[in-house]
Amino acid sequence: MALREIVHYGDPILRKVCQSVKDFSKLTKLIDDMFDTMYEESGIGLAANQVGVDLNLFIIDITDIEEEAENIYVFINSQIQESHGESWFEEGCLSIPDVRLDVKRPEFITLKYQDENGEDHVEKFSGHLARAIQHEVDHLNGVFIVDRVSQTAKMTVKKELKTIEKKAVSKSKFRKEFVL
Ligand code: CO
Repeated sequence: MALREIVHYGDPILRKVCQSVKDFSKLTKLIDDMFDTMYEESGIGLAANQVGVDLNLFIIDITDIEEEAENIYVFINSQIQESHGESWFEEGCLSIPDVRLDVKRPEFITLKYQDENGEDHVEKFSGHLARAIQHEVDHLNGVFIVDRVSQTAKMTVKKELKTIEKKAVSKSKFRKEFVL
């Protein structure tokens, strides 16, 4: 088990559009570490740039929410092709500790992605899974939940954001290059 440090709001890597994965042969360690880290932090989704890796890759495990046997996913080079409907849900984010916001998102999406073997998929998602996917795809495009809410809603967490941002910015200056 190897835990990675979670990068917080304010770190420049979380504002980047992440690079596409081209080499699928070296992802196993990164993916294993990301699952370890996500479970340790009790998260249900984690994007690669949240552990400082600039790659279009994210993982999701919503088994607890859906109460099904298995709901574990790895998505690579994801692109939302179509979305429709509307739903509101309170979201949290491992990169913005202790902040929760009601976020409006499309309820249904069509996602084009690749799996760990580089195989192409186009699939439709809805419900919690569609929401989690959109949250993580946002991360890989440099977008946070605070960018998805009104200015008024953002103001309610302004203080918390400032504190997190200050720490993350100074930490990012001392960060070494992250490895796969
Ligand atoms: Co997040």
